[in-house]
Amino acid sequence: MANPDAAAANRETWTRNSGFILAAIGSAVGLGNIWRFPGVAYESGGGAFIVPYLAALLTAGIPILFLDYAIGHRYRAVAPLAFRRIRRHAEAIGWFQTGLLFVIGVYYAAVIAWAMSYFVYSFDLRWGEDTQTFFLSDYLQVGDPEISTTIVGNVALPLVIVWLVILAVLCLGVARGVEKINMVFIPLLFIGFTGLVIRAITLPGASDGLNALFSPDWSALSDLDVWIAAYSQIFFSLSIAFGIMIAYSSFQRRKANMTSSGLVVAFANSSFEILAGIGVFSALGFLAYQQQAAISELEGLTGPILSFVTFPAVISEMPGASFWGALFFGSLVVAGFTSLISLLIGVSSSLQEKFGLSRVVASAVTAGVSGIISIGLFSTTSGLIALDTVDQFANNIGVVSSAIIMTVFAVWLARDADLLRRHLNAVSTFHLGKWWVALIGVVAPVFLATMLVQKIISIISDGYEGYPQWYIGIFGWGTIALLLIGAAALTLPGWNGRDYPGFQAWPPLDTEQKKEAVR
Ligand code: PHE
Repeated sequence: MANPDAAAANRETWTRNSGFILAAIGSAVGLGNIWRFPGVAYESGGGAFIVPYLAALLTAGIPILFLDYAIGHRYRAVAPLAFRRIRRHAEAIGWFQTGLLFVIGVYYAAVIAWAMSYFVYSFDLRWGEDTQTFFLSDYLQVGDPEISTTIVGNVALPLVIVWLVILAVLCLGVARGVEKINMVFIPLLFIGFTGLVIRAITLPGASDGLNALFSPDWSALSDLDVWIAAYSQIFFSLSIAFGIMIAYSSFQRRKANMTSSGLVVAFANSSFEILAGIGVFSALGFLAYQQQAAISELEGLTGPILSFVTFPAVISEMPGASFWGALFFGSLVVAGFTSLISLLIGVSSSLQEKFGLSRVVASAVTAGVSGIISIGLFSTTSGLIALDTVDQFANNIGVVSSAIIMTVFAVWLARDADLLRRHLNAVSTFHLGKWWVALIGVVAPVFLATMLVQKIISIISDGYEGYPQWYIGIFGWGTIALLLIGAAALTLPGWNGRDYPGFQAWPPLDTEQKKEAVR
């Protein structure tokens, strides 16, 4: 590259700060908020879950979100190059994160495809009376945990559509694609979903549902698993330690109020999560009321079963069922798409930067390869089980490891934390004190490492969901092994000067800003 400065100047940027904020909210608010949070909260102590949840948000979630922002903004590159600019050998951390994006992206897309089908099914309530048999047998055609090659057409078709849309958005790029879509769809999502929640709380029985969700079980606080659930919920939900927030802030301009934007994003995400909890449990209260049962007797209160078995049953009982069904599954599709876009743009921009590809080529490679793997793995009869296993390992082991490595690297190995802190302070109105370094350097990694060890021990000794050992070996540990090997392998090809050895992070802060920053 003849003129690195020109190339840096040509980097894509958001057109306005609100574009960045909405895109970051779009990434954060996703399936995790709608189908993960309510059930996790319910099973992990109900109202008492607020304690580990807030602890995770304040001691790890927001501080690590700021760390992501600082790395991306200061080093103006997506994860692999950003880490390389901090220390040459750290590039692999960026690839490990990029690998996680890829792994999560291929299955996340499948859930969006299901939601698209169910959006269509809402119109004639095609799931019928027995929503469980419909979902598992008629729709997904779930078989045993095996490596199946039988493609299920109902799933494959919407999945192909998902990947074509992703391809189109990636080709349009950051400002014309990602930003525009989020500017339009995130406000729509908030309005539509709020309507849905208001309808839900006015249903008979809703208050029983809310009581079930919010009544605290304080004994849960002494259970380590509850804390693990809170931390992994926060990581997944805020999309942190995946390199996405590094990428998104690398597309920011020089002057950008980073920390204040971060607080807005975190607040919006948690609000949406609580809103979803209220909506989902009001609806469950209504279902219990209809069936004259207690909430605790209902089954399928988390994950795919909640959205695709329990919810259709609720919807069928509601007056105006088709409308509310379409609104619910439409919200899932929109929330999911804006997150999936962030997952894949993280992958394609890393490839683009490393191999000097044009945007269209990087987009085609990313969407093509991920699309084929996604369709091959998740539209078969063993798709649901593969998805569950990969999700468990990528989130509870992969992301938590990534967060530990990243914080320890930034604070202790590269000793970059104070510089990053001053960088954020120089550009932002909400200033970080030394407490931030203590949180990301000590509190977060210690907590996370304890949880990780505990999780690994429990998986080794108890297995997972009773799936066969060989299956966990391939899809669970295999995923982790693949991530490690992939991360190492991707550091091997050279950068051909594209990593600009003489790169100056941002131009040095001017004196005025420096004074600000040390205050
Ligand atoms: N935060 C998204 C959700 O809540 C999922 C996601 C995870 C998106 C990681 C990007 C990166 O569903």
